[in-house]
This record gives sequence, structure tokens and C-alpha cells, in this order.
Amino acid sequence: MLDKLQQIETAALTALDAVQDEAALDAWRVRYLGRQSELMQVFSGLGQLSKEERPAVGRAANQVKVKLEAALDEKRAALKEAALERALREEKVDVTLPGRAPRRGRLHPSTQTLRRILGILGEMGFQVFTSREVELDEFNFQYLNFPPDHPAREMQDSFYVEAGERGDNPVLLRTHTSPGQIHAMRYYAAMNPDNPPPIRIALPGMCFRYEQITARSEVQFNQVEGLVVGENVTFSDLKGTLAEFARRMFGPQARVRFRASYFPFTEPSAEVDVECFVCGGKGCPVCKHSGWLEILGCGMVHPVVLQNGGYDPQRYTGFAFGMGPERQAMLRHKIEDIRYFWGNDIRFLKQF
Ligand code: PHE
Repeated sequence: MLDKLQQIETAALTALDAVQDEAALDAWRVRYLGRQSELMQVFSGLGQLSKEERPAVGRAANQVKVKLEAALDEKRAALKEAALERALREEKVDVTLPGRAPRRGRLHPSTQTLRRILGILGEMGFQVFTSREVELDEFNFQYLNFPPDHPAREMQDSFYVEAGERGDNPVLLRTHTSPGQIHAMRYYAAMNPDNPPPIRIALPGMCFRYEQITARSEVQFNQVEGLVVGENVTFSDLKGTLAEFARRMFGPQARVRFRASYFPFTEPSAEVDVECFVCGGKGCPVCKHSGWLEILGCGMVHPVVLQNGGYDPQRYTGFAFGMGPERQAMLRHKIEDIRYFWGNDIRFLKQF
């Protein structure tokens, strides 16, 4: 029996030497120390031994068990250590490798252009006034002196919300930023109704028109409206302000020209062209060989509009203008299709 124990011990320790990983170690433990192992059978067989043999065999079996358990713990620790060393060796980080460049976000070309326009107007003393995108027919059209049969009021041109539920004052998405003129004038007039303060504001924001989407027209686009109201505000102020704006926006050499035009809410009205900043006025495909680019609509605020805003047209005059940042960005960057602006194509957006 004592010989057998010696054999068990030798066999177990030899087998343990060959163990290389946790799984094999587990198998070894079952095989040599588990319930079914030879060693455990020696323990359960002690009862069958004679009184004289029993103490010596029991003691020897115990010694083998303690030895094997100690060897198991040692091996487990050694395996752990080896695993750690391997990890340190193989998974080491090469701190000299070049890093991964973080991807840089950028502002949408419309936002960039909007900010430039507002930055320049800000330097010229204009404050930003934001106005709602969802409007009433009254503000989008009626207070702005649109006659009831104006073609822009037809269903094809505006997005109506709750169409038909408010009679002749339906809710719609604003088709231009001009309704903000009325909100702004009423806001300032309410501060001192008998003596409304002068106004010099810029109204930026998204506008919506129910149109066929093509390379040249979108259903949504930004506008920046300008509004100046005060005593003795004249058409020369309008011309001077817009000529100065053009110089700051398009360069010191940028000349402007005014062409007579028509808007229901301004009288007289004009459209402003800037000398083509691509070819310098010589003529190129961007300006269609005319040398000029149309950049905005403007005019003296119509007396009816001043009245609707709470400003007495006998005492106050004003001018207003409206321009499109997407159009300016298209001209500046030679973008040929307006659909790129809201197409969310990163290949387009990352060029700006
Ligand atoms: N609201 C006009 C448009 O959308 C532009 C404009 C604004 C014209 C202010 C005159 C004065 O075309």
C-alpha cells in the first residue's frame, strides 16, 4: 500500500510537470485529487486494512494529499505568472507609433455664410432678432401688404399647416423672413407706444416654399432680413448701407448696382447686384457673362407696413432688405446644385 502511494505521488507530479494551462490543470486536479482518484480510493479503503497497517497508510496518504495540493497551488500560481508575463510581452503598447488624428467637425456652409453675414451686419450696428418659422397668413402676407389675390398666396407656393381650419388666416411655414419685420416693429413699439424707438435689426432663419425641388430651387432655404426704422431714414441710407455691406462681404473693390423692382411691402423697391466676385466683372459662367450677380431684394418700408407694425408712417420711415445665404455660398464656392445643402452627404460638407 505504501508503495502504491509512492507510485501515485510520482505519477501525479510527473503529470503536473506537463501541464501548460488552466484547463489541463483542472483535469489534473480531477484525475489525482478528485473523488474518483486513486488517492481518494486509498482513503475510502482504509477501513478494510488491518489495525496495524491503518495508521501508517493513513498518515502516508495524508502526506501525499498535502504534497499534491501544495504542488497544485504552486502550479496555479506559476501559470498565472506566466500568463501575465506573456500578456506584458505580447500586448505591450508601442508608444512611439503615430497617433490617430481626431476627426474635426466643421460648420455647415450655410451656417458659415449666415455667420459671416451676421458678423458684418453686427459690426454695422444691427442686432439679431429671431422670429418664428411657423406663421399666420396675416404676418406672412396680409400685414406685409400682399393683395388677397397675390400669386404667392396660392397653395402651390406655401406649406400650410392645418389647411382650411382658420378661414382666411391659416397657419403656414413662413415663405420669407419678412413677417419678422411686423413682429419686431410691434415688439419695439410696445416698449413705448407713443414714442417707438428706432430699429436696426437682422432677422436670420429658415424659410419654406412649396416648390418642385431642382438644382436651382429647394423647399427650404435661409434668408437674412435687414430692417432699419427711424426718423429721417432715407433711400440714400439704404444704398449706403448695402454698398458698405457688399464691400465688407465681397471685398473692397465690390461695386453694387440697384435695379428697380417690386415687392408689396416696400416702395420704392430694388434688387441689388454685386459685381461678379468670380471674374471681377469681366464676364464668366458664374455671372452668365453679365459681370453682375443678383444678391438681394430691398426697398423703403411701405407706409402700410409701418402702420401695421405700430410705427406712424407720418413720422417714421425705414428700409428693409432680404438676401439668401445659400445663394451667396453657391456663387462663392461655385456650387452647382442647391440640393447638396440638405443632402447630408459628408463628401460635400467636408469641403467647407
Ligand atoms: N422677402 C423678399 C423675398 O423673399 C425679400 C425682401 C426683403 C425684399 C425685404 C425687400 C425687402 O424675396
